[in-house]
Amino acid sequence: MKDLASPLSSKDKFLIFGGGFSGDYFAKSIRKLGCVALTSTRSENNDPNSFTFNSEDNLIPKNSIFEGVTHILCCIPPDKKGKDPVLKILKNKLKNISLKWVGYLSTTGVYGDTNGDWVSEQHQPKPLQARSQRRLNCEKEWINSNLPLQIFRLPGIYGPGRSTLEAIKNKNIKVIHKDNQVFSRIHVADIANAIIYLLQNKNKFDFHQIINIADDEPCSQIEVIRYGYQLLGLKMPKKILFEEAKKDLSPIAKSFWLENRRVSNELLCKKLGYRLIYKNYQKGLNNCLIHLK
Ligand SMILES: NC(=O)c1ccc[n+]([C@@H]2O[C@H](COP(=O)([O-])OP(=O)(O)OC[C@H]3O[C@@H](n4cnc5c(N)ncnc54)[C@H](OP(=O)(O)O)[C@@H]3O)[C@@H](O)[C@H]2O)c1
Repeated sequence: MKDLASPLSSKDKFLIFGGGFSGDYFAKSIRKLGCVALTSTRSENNDPNSFTFNSEDNLIPKNSIFEGVTHILCCIPPDKKGKDPVLKILKNKLKNISLKWVGYLSTTGVYGDTNGDWVSEQHQPKPLQARSQRRLNCEKEWINSNLPLQIFRLPGIYGPGRSTLEAIKNKNIKVIHKDNQVFSRIHVADIANAIIYLLQNKNKFDFHQIINIADDEPCSQIEVIRYGYQLLGLKMPKKILFEEAKKDLSPIAKSFWLENRRVSNELLCKKLGYRLIYKNYQKGLNNCLIHLK
């Protein structure tokens, strides 16, 4: 294993497993610092910055992809059995590379329901949903891998191209109200920036293996939707009470309303000194509006 305290250098090469919304944003951000970053997709394509990995079809990256790799970021959700798709197939391969750092994007769903209370990394996870059990299992698999691992627990991710504004425009939104219900969220730029900040400063801080990345102001979903309609200059439809709306929600959509928690970012933003770019949904949606197509 290389020196854990070494900061980022342009010689660093990142493999990002899961070049979806967050993985792709992270890759673009880290390339701006001069690092090499390759992202995985499940289907083959001609992008020289991309490689193929599909755990279900056993599509494994070529050996040359791993040459010179110093950092790994996994942005792939657990498989149906709660196994991590990357570790399931590539654990031994990764153990034989001299890695400086491995990041894993997890979810704050592992905390379960806190009845609206704040929850931090110090709280024991109490996953309520089966998918959050699977996630906690993947966190454990990564920890047990003994790779130089850091886990980032994320609430609802939004950003340009994937926000309430697109949902309103595509008429893919329900204005639901449930008393006292809040959600936490994070702008995709803050995920990338916070991770880069931690990597750049890791010789200055005590190492924390698990870190929440969330904005400052958990709030009701209806507040965010109202602001979205306001930004688009459209009239918000009448709200529907959750008890009424739930009859028409898919099981997965309904399950999100069964957990009510405020995710604390004190470790990241107070103790470790990261300054959010988008501290609340207003600032984040203003940014999304600029990029709205
Ligand atoms: N979305 C949220 O609000 C949210 C909140 C908290 C945590 N998270 C978690 O944070 C991570 C990143 O989220 P995201 O929304 O940025 O992800 P995303 O856009 O849904 O991208 C997921 C990526 O995983 C790849 N993938 C999925 N199954 C795979 C498999 N079996 N083998 C290989 N690759 C596979 C996809 O490949 P293709 O590009 O080929 O489709 C895609 O690149 C995920 O683990 C997600 O569950 C998401």
